[in-house]
Amino acid sequence: MPQVFIDNRWQPCASGESLPMIDPSDGLEFARIARGTNEDVDRAIVAARRAYEGAWGRLAPVERGRILMQVERLILDHAEELTQIEARDCGKPIKQARNDVVACARYFEFYAGAVDKVGGQTIPYQPGFTALALREPHGVTGHIIPWNYPLQVFGRSVGGALAAGNACVMKPAEDACLSLLKLAELMAEAGLLPGALNIVPGLGGEAGAALAGHAGVDHISFTGSPETGTRVAQAAAVHHHPVTMELGGKSPQLVFADADLDAAVPAIVNAVIQNAGQTCSAGSRLLVERAIYEQLLETLGRAFARLRVGPSPADLDCGPLIRAGQLARVRGFLAEAERDALPRVAQGEIVADAPKGGYYQKPTLLRDVPVGHHLAQEEVFGPVLAAMPFDDETHALRLANATRFGLVAGVWTRDGSRALRIARSLDSGQVFINNYGAGGGVELPFGGVKASGYGREKGIEGLLSFTRLKTITIKHG
Ligand code: NAI
Ligand code: MG
Repeated sequence: MPQVFIDNRWQPCASGESLPMIDPSDGLEFARIARGTNEDVDRAIVAARRAYEGAWGRLAPVERGRILMQVERLILDHAEELTQIEARDCGKPIKQARNDVVACARYFEFYAGAVDKVGGQTIPYQPGFTALALREPHGVTGHIIPWNYPLQVFGRSVGGALAAGNACVMKPAEDACLSLLKLAELMAEAGLLPGALNIVPGLGGEAGAALAGHAGVDHISFTGSPETGTRVAQAAAVHHHPVTMELGGKSPQLVFADADLDAAVPAIVNAVIQNAGQTCSAGSRLLVERAIYEQLLETLGRAFARLRVGPSPADLDCGPLIRAGQLARVRGFLAEAERDALPRVAQGEIVADAPKGGYYQKPTLLRDVPVGHHLAQEEVFGPVLAAMPFDDETHALRLANATRFGLVAGVWTRDGSRALRIARSLDSGQVFINNYGAGGGVELPFGGVKASGYGREKGIEGLLSFTRLKTITIKHG
């Protein structure tokens, strides 16, 4: 019987229907999830409202924090099981899934510790008055989660929202969400009160759309494509509901001739092959100062040629892409590259014993990609790196800022003043200097500018995103 998770219990979904879960490593069905619909979302929101107005909403912050601390504990106690689930469901190499489990636990640790330490303000106003700005939860928060990092995005989003005192309704991705269904049970075991977290699995156009446009939700947090983000924000706007949008990127790495290339090369490779390139913050554009362009491409070419792609349990550099459609999308980009004769420097290899039905793509390094080309403008969401040369700082900046996105950027140089100058001029939600953190850093506020979205998750800023301010002015004479 396909089920949704409401009030800490598995309950039959209204449609009675289920959806197949496909193992991306072999293309075969290995589980099924509920096809939740608007009726399930309605029930989940009623449960969340009841929790928010009831026992969950009345808990002291320290008590919420203790429960979330226990969630962290249970995630770590079940790390191996969660790793196996996440790896198979998403097609991740085991070590990458293990990192995701640890990061998810760390979000709960971070927010559990922060919950009774972050408050509002008192405001210097006028004699005879006291003015306060209180931080309050939104109430019922909706969370639409993508398939690329279910555990991590859940941790930063639902973890922050619960810590701030909201009750949550979550719509996980139909392509990968089994780890979150397991985690829901662990959270109930950890003492999370009924209704504080409700999960309605299902299709984006059904359960997702129902949640985004629901009158009874007070805030929506979305991570995914810009196109779906627009639809979600439009649906929420009908009710004037605030949203947080994390919409991916085409993040550049800028490498100057004075950079420490020994440090840069592995970071550049990892930034575009982690999770087979299906990472919002993937470093998918490489901008290189002309003096070292040939040399760096040669070194990177050797590194790409060594990369191995195979099924999740083989724990290689890259696993498969999430689904057949995603593989077709990436191949479409590469066909365009071929048509337009973009030179290919190197490709990795798919291991010979990779199951035939899996969605495997060789990591690919392209050079001399014109700045206006699709390969330099659009999110491929696969292990494809587009390189181009630049002449000087001004040129580098112009190229870096010449896309509609602005999520992450990397700057590699030994010149500290230049690094800061560039960091200040980049259209980007975050800049990494002489390092590149695709996804890492629970403490670091994260989000985009331009088409990469707005609002911030992670860090203390993420906790604040799940609150709203109320100004109280008292005249006492
Ligand atoms: P998507 O943005 O459509 O899906 C993300 C989430 O939104 C899923 O949970 C999905 O069920 C839900 N959703 C879909 N339509 C919805 C609707 N009308 N209302 C409410 N929720 C809805 O992304 P998709 O189709 O899986 O992937 C397409 C492309 O999007 C990828 O190739 C990639 O470029 C980008 N993407 C970016 C992500 C990121 O981390 N920034 C994550 C996933 C996809
Ligand atoms: Mg799957």
